[in-house]
Amino acid sequence: MNSLMKLFVSLSLLFFTSLIVGEINGVEGSHKHHHHHHLKGLIPKRLFVFGDSYVDVGNTKKSPNVTAWKVPYGITFPGKPAGRSSDGLVSTDVLAKLMGIKTPVPYIRKDDVGKERLKYGMNFAVGGTGVLVTGVVINTLNPNMTNQIDFFQKLIGNIYSPSDLSSSVALVSVSGNDYFDYIYKNKLTGIFEFIPKVVKQTEVNLRRIHALGVKKIAIPNLQPLGCLPSFSSLKDPSSPKCIDEVNKVAIYHNTLLQKLVAKLNKETKRSTFVTIDLFNAFLTIIKNKGVPGSTTFETPLTYCCKGGCGSVDKNGEKKYTVCDDPKSALFWDEIHPSQEGWKSVYSVLGKDITAALIKP
Ligand SMILES: *[C@@H]1O[C@H](CO)[C@@H](O)[C@H](O)[C@H]1NC(C)=O
Ligand SMILES: *[C@@H]1O[C@H](CO)[C@@H](O)[C@H](O)[C@H]1NC(C)=O
Repeated sequence: MNSLMKLFVSLSLLFFTSLIVGEINGVEGSHKHHHHHHLKGLIPKRLFVFGDSYVDVGNTKKSPNVTAWKVPYGITFPGKPAGRSSDGLVSTDVLAKLMGIKTPVPYIRKDDVGKERLKYGMNFAVGGTGVLVTGVVINTLNPNMTNQIDFFQKLIGNIYSPSDLSSSVALVSVSGNDYFDYIYKNKLTGIFEFIPKVVKQTEVNLRRIHALGVKKIAIPNLQPLGCLPSFSSLKDPSSPKCIDEVNKVAIYHNTLLQKLVAKLNKETKRSTFVTIDLFNAFLTIIKNKGVPGSTTFETPLTYCCKGGCGSVDKNGEKKYTVCDDPKSALFWDEIHPSQEGWKSVYSVLGKDITAALIKP
């Protein structure tokens, strides 16, 4: 129970992401149109984001209980906590950059930014969200993914027109909160009967986003869960190892997800739904200890911010330690990749992603 408790404490970190103070000026779209002109079609210029802390850029309430709002989150970018569960940028930011757009604003900031800023889309993701479990409080709501889609729906015909949607991409991140919640309560007992339920609700959500008019929907598959420091460092932090039993959860989820995507694409008769293969991207990086020629992670399964990242004792003394160079770590905390980690993941995914977003 002790180690499980410890696991839960680290797991719950994932899920308490959170709010951006001020504009994220560093996340500028790089206008690389010249790179695309030889490709058929153009990458859509608008992104709507649903999901959890892997993609949340500041939708959770700024509160002392929300890890992503604590020092040292955000130390690499923007230099202070900004509601992202990383030392800097997260998955959404890197994808937006690949699309040549600014990172979409968090939903809770929509009334504080100019109209101009909304043209890149919007981010509804909240740390802690699964498709069945619920995220942390934003304002007065405790949104699950269904609620996030409700928020989106209310903006259609209001901020966004139907034609805006038909030239947009949706990113739908389901990174494991449903499973972490399950494992906390039941360990791995019966989890293989639970996985189809999560995929079934994912199907409901994907169909709904498509029915609302979004013509291109990207779904990351599950990263190798057993390689997250929460699991891989549980037994012996000095010699972390991926836990096969836990990776099997991701493998089964991904098999069902792949079948689902094939089924949905058959129905739409186009490649509407695209999977982003995080599972293999992470494993490749771990195996190669980085990305050959660009990034080295000497010990890819260790992580940078240890001991309950962001936690302090009664006297305000920090209980955690931060590595010398966050760029040297694939993982920032027990659950979340570092900025350099996310950049590496997308670098491994490479041109496949942009090609898939363009394909009709
Ligand atoms: C924050 O945590 C404290 C102690 O754990 C708790 O009493 C309080 O209700 C929490 N606040 C919020 C907003 O969750
Ligand atoms: C999401 O939350 C709402 C409450 O806001 C609840 O009615 C609904 O059943 C939840 N959806 C799922 C799939 O759990």
